[in-house]
Amino acid sequence: MGCDRPQGGYSRHAFDDAEMQLRQWFAEQAQRRGLDVENDRNGNVWAWWGAPAPGAVVTGSHLDSVPGGGAFDGPLGVVSALLAVDELRVRGITPARPLAVACFLDEEGGRFGLPCLGSRLLTGAADADQARRLHDADGVSLADAARRVGFDPSTMGPDPARLATVGTFVELHVEQGRLLRSVDPTAAVGVASEIVAHGRWRLTITGQGNHAGTTALTDRSDPMIPAAAAVLAARRALSGFDGAVATVGRIVPVPGGTNVIASAVSLWLDVRHADATVTAAVVDAIVADVRAEAAAEGCTVMVQRESMSDRVAFDPGLGLEISGRLDVPVIPTAAGHDAGVFAAHVPTAMLFVRNPSGVSHAPDEHADAADCVTGVQALADVLENLVGDINPAARHVGAGDE
Ligand code: GLV
Ligand code: MN
Ligand code: MN
Repeated sequence: MGCDRPQGGYSRHAFDDAEMQLRQWFAEQAQRRGLDVENDRNGNVWAWWGAPAPGAVVTGSHLDSVPGGGAFDGPLGVVSALLAVDELRVRGITPARPLAVACFLDEEGGRFGLPCLGSRLLTGAADADQARRLHDADGVSLADAARRVGFDPSTMGPDPARLATVGTFVELHVEQGRLLRSVDPTAAVGVASEIVAHGRWRLTITGQGNHAGTTALTDRSDPMIPAAAAVLAARRALSGFDGAVATVGRIVPVPGGTNVIASAVSLWLDVRHADATVTAAVVDAIVADVRAEAAAEGCTVMVQRESMSDRVAFDPGLGLEISGRLDVPVIPTAAGHDAGVFAAHVPTAMLFVRNPSGVSHAPDEHADAADCVTGVQALADVLENLVGDINPAARHVGAGDE
C-alpha cells in the first residue's frame, strides 16, 4: 500500500489514501481478533483487548512511511503487536491488565514536518494550535487533511485521560543500522537503551531570481550557492564533533527551472548526536558556513527549528529486565520513535529486530522472516510478563501437554 513504483519503496503519509487504506486494514485485523477499535482525538488508532483502564500495557508503532521508505519501519511493530496478541491467546493468557495495540499519526513527520505528531499531541509535547496550522508540501493544513478523512481537528490536543490509561509502552521496530550485529552477531533481537538527541531545521535562503544565461556572474545572487555550502557543511562541520551526523535530504529551489537562477531555496537539515548541546553546536557550525556563503553571494538566510527531541533514556529497570528475560543485548539508537515521546511519561521500552543490510528509510530495508517471528515471540514474552495472567492455572502449557 502506498507503493512508489518508479523509485521502489513506500510513500504513505498521514491521512493520505494509502495510509487510510492501511488504517482500514488494521481495524479489520484488530476486529477479527475481537479487539475494540477506536480513534483518539489526535489521529491515533487504538485496538483494545479488555476495557481501557489505567495501567494498560500498550504496544504498537506507526503506519506512515518516509518518502520511498522500506516495508518494515512502523508496520513491523504494528503487525508484530497483532501477532503477539495471537500468541498470548495461544498461550492461554487471560490478561490481568488491558492490552492495547496503537498506531500513531505521522511518526515520520513525512507530511507535516513534525515527527511523532500523534504521540506529541496526545502527551501535550506539541501545541495543538500550531499543529493544526502545519501544512504539507501542497499547502494542505493538518486541520484540512484531518477533516478530509473524517477526523475533527478541533479536538486535537493533550489527552490526559488517555495518557492515564497507558501504564507501560513497548514498541517493536526494525533495527535501523547494524549495531546489533556488531554487538552480538547471534542476536536476532535487541533492546533499546536510549535515543540520541535529534532535530530538524529549515533554512530558507533568498536571492534574486534571474536568467541562467544572460546574468553576469557579478550580478548574481544565487541562493543555490549557499545551499550547496549547507550540503557540504553538513559533512565537513562534523569533524570536531565525534559521533554527530548531519543530513540535507530535502532541498527545494523556487521556482525550480533548468534555465532559471532560483529566487529562493528551502532546505532541511537533520542533525543528531547523543548530547543535545553538541547537536546545537553542529547546527551553529553549519549555519555559520551558510551565512558566510550567503553574504558573499548577496543572499539572506532564515533558520527555523521545526522539531527537537532531546536525548531519551528508556526506563533502565524495564530495559534490563527485558534484556535479561530475553537474553539479548541492549543498544542505543539514533532514530526517533513514538516510544521516545512516551518515555517522558510512563515506563517505556523498545525491541529491535535485526536488519541484515542495516539500510532503513529506503526500499532495501529488510528483516528476515525468521527474525520477525523471533521478534513476535520476544514481544509476546514481554507483554505476557507485563499484563499478567488472571488465571495461570488455566494456561496451556504447550501443545504436547494437552
Ligand atoms: C524516524 O525514523 C527518524 O529517526 O527520523
Ligand atoms: Mn519508525
Ligand atoms: Mn522512520
